[in-house]
Amino acid sequence: MTSKVIGTGSYVPERVVTNEDLAKVVDTNDEWIVTRTGIHERRIAMDEGTSFMAAEASRRALADAGIDASELDLIILATSSSDHCFPSTACEVQAEIRAKNAVAFDISAACSGFEFALSTAHAFLASGTYRTALIVGADCLSKLTDWTDRGTCVLFGDGAGAAVIQAGETGVIHMVMGSDGARGQVLTCTARTDGNVFNGKTPEFGYIQMDGQEVFKFAVKKVPECIRQVLDESGTSMDEIKYFVLHQANYRICEAVAKRLKQPLEKVPMNIDRFGNTSGATVPILLDELNREGKLERGDKIVLAGFGGGLTWGAVLLEW
Ligand code: ACO
Repeated sequence: MTSKVIGTGSYVPERVVTNEDLAKVVDTNDEWIVTRTGIHERRIAMDEGTSFMAAEASRRALADAGIDASELDLIILATSSSDHCFPSTACEVQAEIRAKNAVAFDISAACSGFEFALSTAHAFLASGTYRTALIVGADCLSKLTDWTDRGTCVLFGDGAGAAVIQAGETGVIHMVMGSDGARGQVLTCTARTDGNVFNGKTPEFGYIQMDGQEVFKFAVKKVPECIRQVLDESGTSMDEIKYFVLHQANYRICEAVAKRLKQPLEKVPMNIDRFGNTSGATVPILLDELNREGKLERGDKIVLAGFGGGLTWGAVLLEW
């Protein structure tokens, strides 16, 4: 028994923020951002929170799958930017979409979150524990961004993507996940700091901090490695893959991964130019675009691959 994607959905906020808009806020320019990252614009939440975006994406995924929310047994949501410490965003989504029969929880794996959520849900479905699951990647990094730091604030956008998966005979073929906590300091975002009446400190929030070059080196080494691993371990050849749906962190990272895999760039779809890096949401948003544009046919083999804070990485090979 495995798990098949039966529907996808996504949501991005309406507000478009261009590179020119950012140049009015920090010392940057369109040329720098485009040549280093491939990003032209991103969507930034005005009133939408993480759970709102996640619920919208989930409704669309359920509509695409043609099932009612009451059929869901499981909701796993990946985020680094939940609206509350608790309840979890997954529980908020459950309430919004009225998935009263589902158990719901969040996982934290930063930009690898969707692959981790899919792999976790797949394990439940493959074991026969549950039959139908909703997996969501949703992030509102604009609230964790230091808008005075030009090195990071130009990179991110807000959004959510979702997929409904169901136990079946075909679907997920193999998955790999990895983490390296010892190198976690190259990409961090502090949560509420310690502070209480006894130590006299006031709790504060931190912002995203990144050693961009170390993240770049990590990504261009680890992503091809884990893609090769997921293919080798399942006896699948590179040529059988229609698309490598990679985390959208940076155009140059996608390009470098394609080069290292010796694959044409046409097999590495991208939408980073329009949405920037939406963290755990990039892969499901891109997957939803491919699905809605009719670019995926039943039987196609694709690889989803993510990498990010933790450090974490993961790849899922699936038959559409
Ligand atoms: N506009 C103009 N100049 C800038 C900007 C900006 N937005 N940001 C930095 N600079 C300047 C720096 O101050 C520096 O100036 P200096 O030479 O006078 O000191 C110069 O540009 C080069 O800065 P670097 O940080 O060395 O730039 P680099 O070439 O490494 O590019 C980048 C930065 C694009 C972030 C790159 O390191 C990268 O692609 N890293 C991958 C990390 C990534 O994509 N992270 C996304 C989030 S994490 C994730 O999703 C897993």
